[in-house]
Amino acid sequence: SRVTQGDRGPTVVVSNRGPVTFSRDEDGERQHSRGAGGLVTALNAVLRRSEGAVWIASAQSEEDAEVAREPAPYEVEDLRVRLVEHDGAAYDLMYNTLANPLLWFVQHGLYNLPYSPRLGDDTREAWENGYLAVNRNFARAAADTVGDAPSATILLHDYQLYMTPLFLRGELGDRAEDAFVSLFVHIPWPEPDGWGILPNYMREGILESLLSADVVAFHTRAYARNFMETAARVLGAEVDLDNGTVRYAGREVWVRAYPISIDPAEFEELAGSEAVLEQEEFVKGLPGKLLLRVDRTDLSKNVVRGFEAYGRMLERHPEMKEDVTFLAQLQPSRGDIPEYAAYMEAVGRTVEEVNERHGTGSWRPIELFMQDNFPRSVAAYKNYDALLVNAVRDGMNLVAKEAAVVNEKDGVLILSEYAGAHEELGDSALTVNPYDLDEQADAIHEALTMPEDERHRRAGALRETVLSNTIEDWVEAQVKDIEAFREKGG
Ligand code: F6P
Repeated sequence: SRVTQGDRGPTVVVSNRGPVTFSRDEDGERQHSRGAGGLVTALNAVLRRSEGAVWIASAQSEEDAEVAREPAPYEVEDLRVRLVEHDGAAYDLMYNTLANPLLWFVQHGLYNLPYSPRLGDDTREAWENGYLAVNRNFARAAADTVGDAPSATILLHDYQLYMTPLFLRGELGDRAEDAFVSLFVHIPWPEPDGWGILPNYMREGILESLLSADVVAFHTRAYARNFMETAARVLGAEVDLDNGTVRYAGREVWVRAYPISIDPAEFEELAGSEAVLEQEEFVKGLPGKLLLRVDRTDLSKNVVRGFEAYGRMLERHPEMKEDVTFLAQLQPSRGDIPEYAAYMEAVGRTVEEVNERHGTGSWRPIELFMQDNFPRSVAAYKNYDALLVNAVRDGMNLVAKEAAVVNEKDGVLILSEYAGAHEELGDSALTVNPYDLDEQADAIHEALTMPEDERHRRAGALRETVLSNTIEDWVEAQVKDIEAFREKGG
């Protein structure tokens, strides 16, 4: 039986990408740099809540592998980190063949591209020798970290770890009884038909594993509902959509939506930092109004269509020329995957086309930066007149939330109806269909020419909405449910 409130065991958080990466400096001293990104910030907030918690993640560098070989968790910046060293070939198959070009593509509705996903000769191998192998390592590391301690809380994160709950049960043995295990899916969960593309062994395996957790969590109610419907379709599980429960193999699993958010104080502080102020000079020097996007170079972000829509807007409204600059801050991502490499090239080509077609001697319509420069992104957050978030699908999209809290221009958010953030922010944004170039062109024009009072009203509402559900609220809601789940006795 499950232990009740007050009887706390250790907390273990597991995600593929960790909070820090290690390297050695010229003097041979160990250095670490903080991992960027919304997931890392969010999990930091979880760790702050649970004293002594250990964060398990994949080793990503040679020095990480050194850290992974040390027996005790490594203490760094108030964190206790344990790195897992995977076999290089296995990790490559997991990351570059299975998790990203296949699961990510399926879950972001990118499977209708002519060249993706690659369900080829290597799929089964990538599943067995890559994905399963890496997930087994995570399960072992988590069970090992828990040791003999009773009533552990094990919080697994994201689509790289779908098979970990199942392996974890095996590893924990009797200890599984009073442990609490959840898996948070940070990316969209499509409708049951969307899963049709995956081989049976894979979709059944994934669902069975997820249903061996106690809670499966998502960012939106829509994804949670899609998950329950998929469980019913693929496994014949008994689902209660209203109460968010799934019964399968004699167990009850809770399915929940906790919309992830940001730490507004962190962004307010960043906004005033030296590094950001320095970048602000550059941002403010760009001609005309500022249209902004900040993304990883991911196909799901819909960068190419965004530039095309902007080009269309300039064609229809030549009076806007020299009166606006589109700043695109794109962080290179997953470049070893051919689809991503090709996409980065397509992004560059499209920018050249738009700039050649519409530019003048003294004005470049698009300023593209394909490099990581977070201070410049925050400087641009403060100064945008319009922010374009037109993802074809996106688990949440934290850029929309980060930017809203530091913007000083009553900037207008143009938001895809298929971004998870739309469930919360849709009312104060201009909603666009990410496939419809005309609609996006019109929305860009509307945002840049919107009357002051309407901009002010929308920007205020946006900010209020973000402030009403912060990262602390996100953590709190989950902690409450963990306690409720334990109290009911699993
Ligand atoms: O939340 C989605 C996510 O894939 C995280 O799991 C991941 O850490 C982040 O986006 C960036 O992707 P990657 O780790 O592949 O660079």
